[in-house]
Amino acid sequence: MNVIRSYVNELRQFAGKRLYGYVLLMLLISVLDMVTLYMLIPLLSLIGVFGGGTGSLPFAQVFEPLRSMPLVTSLAIVLGLYSLLTIIQGFIQRKQSVMGAEIQQGFIKSLRLRVYRSIMRSNWTFFLRKRKSDLSHMLTTELARVSQGTNLVLMLATSILFTVLQIGFAMVLSVKMTLLVLIGGGLLALYSRRFVRKSKAYGDRMTELSQDYFSGIQENLNGIKDIKSNMLEASHFDWFRKMANRLEHNLIQQVRLNSTTQLIYKLISVVFIIGFIVLSVQVFQLQPERSVLIILIFARLWPRFSGIQSYLEYISALIPAFHALSKLQKECEQAEESYRPVAHGEGPTQTLRDGIRCNDVTFHYNEEHEAALKDINLFIPAGQMTAIAGRSGAGKSTLIDLLMGLMEPQQGAVEVDGVRLTGERLLSWRNSIGYVAQEPFLFHSSIRDNLLLVKPDATEDDLWEALEFAACDEFVRRLPEGLDTIIGDRGVRLSGGERQRIVLARAILRKPEVLILDEATSSLDTENEAKVQAALDKLKGHITLIVIAHRLSTIRNADQVVVVDNGQIVQTGEFAQLSRETKGTFHQLLGYQNAAQ
Ligand SMILES: Nc1ncnc2c1ncn2[C@@H]1O[C@H](COP(=O)(O)OP(=O)(O)OP(=O)(O)O)[C@@H](O)[C@H]1O
Ligand SMILES: [Mg+2]
Repeated sequence: MNVIRSYVNELRQFAGKRLYGYVLLMLLISVLDMVTLYMLIPLLSLIGVFGGGTGSLPFAQVFEPLRSMPLVTSLAIVLGLYSLLTIIQGFIQRKQSVMGAEIQQGFIKSLRLRVYRSIMRSNWTFFLRKRKSDLSHMLTTELARVSQGTNLVLMLATSILFTVLQIGFAMVLSVKMTLLVLIGGGLLALYSRRFVRKSKAYGDRMTELSQDYFSGIQENLNGIKDIKSNMLEASHFDWFRKMANRLEHNLIQQVRLNSTTQLIYKLISVVFIIGFIVLSVQVFQLQPERSVLIILIFARLWPRFSGIQSYLEYISALIPAFHALSKLQKECEQAEESYRPVAHGEGPTQTLRDGIRCNDVTFHYNEEHEAALKDINLFIPAGQMTAIAGRSGAGKSTLIDLLMGLMEPQQGAVEVDGVRLTGERLLSWRNSIGYVAQEPFLFHSSIRDNLLLVKPDATEDDLWEALEFAACDEFVRRLPEGLDTIIGDRGVRLSGGERQRIVLARAILRKPEVLILDEATSSLDTENEAKVQAALDKLKGHITLIVIAHRLSTIRNADQVVVVDNGQIVQTGEFAQLSRETKGTFHQLLGYQNAAQ
């Protein structure tokens, strides 16, 4: 319950005065409700139900003047007043509902923004630990459950307030009877606690199930090509059916539990009402008008009791969502980047004067696993081209991620111009880097938008210059709508090589200080590779280039080649020098490639 309390506290801070306004309206509605109920009594007595006597009721004098009037007039007055109050109550109720929705939706929006912002501000290590599907699950399903939970808490508060007021009113009418009902209700609530606990267990299960459901679907859709081409549809559908069954079962169990408690409340209410009438007439000998009023109150109050029980059960089922969200928020806070992100093109940049140095860098992805990089000592001089070569899984991409400051090594340090790469410095450093990832990513929008994303003020000429550099101007010109062609998921599909070249154009458009290419030419044919190669050669001496290449022909002109094997640097030197060495990893790599050609 603590976690709910903290969200309700947050809600209070968020809604501020409006929340008190909301509670005030709630009170008003409850009072009006009681007044209209109370007005039934003079009405009934005017018609002659109680033989004309309502004098024993509190505030009965209010109705006295009515007695001296003709029946039609008094009836008209009472009925008119009754309708007026009911109508006013209706309007207030409407206002209150809208206000409740505004508070709830506003709160959820602010929560949504905050969670998303903190996810975005988390560092790369956080994303390495997290499944992407869990994050989207959190932002959709779980956030919706938290929203629903907040709404239920507001409704619960309304119900409790309403109940307390009505009990107060009933106390005025008969203390003994009210106490009797309260004791009954209290015992029932005590007994029903087990249902609340059970409901929470269903909620826990729901969180687990929907998380698995979400990640499963996402995974399957991402791998749909493999599924189709390997005829795995049937087994995946099987998984899906099982999942759907489990979700169905869990929800039905929850509804079953809820309906059972509702049934218990209903059955007991019958016993209560009967016992009540007998008691009020036989034992307490209440006047009939009092009895009617009390019975009316409790007949309306009892559903509130069972409503409170029902809310408690549903809220308990939603607690796991509150927990999950607050856990995620904490994790994000801990993983927050040391700098505030800024809009692209803003913020400081940094000129690389001397170079990047790794001092005894050791990095583990997981504590349990072997280090992905061990004792790396390396200097990457500014303004030169450094190539990183090595077998698959050697640790090349990991090394680059460390150089970009995406992750921090557990031992040793990465220094840029002699200054350790942490804190605020990361911002200016990353702002100076152009990076083409091993799996290039483009957004689902036009080529122009994809390019402008990194440099909103780029001119048409800038764009074409960058495209030309990446040897993709020709193919973009051939596209039906040129730069405005929509690419990505539902737009024009690009081949692996085309995608790589556009991403390269995007990286170069910013005219970065440091250009980092992770296998950026691996999907290119020889002709395009030669073009990109020539362009890169032109950059030599102007910017710092760090290139990972499987194809060793690409790095022939590198000033320095670093060979990584099994997480360690095994060779460093010029291309020509390394290729003359007849031992070592580089010689082997060269051998495989020459054999393949
Ligand atoms: N997110 C991760 N979590 C755990 N281990 C990882 C992760 N990413 C990479 N590794 C491990 O670190 C080692 C180095 O991986 P890395 O991606 O740096 O290799 P690479 O040299 O870039 O290979 P490739 O040429 O295939 O891209 C591998 O053994 C890999 O299993
Ligand atoms: Mg790699």
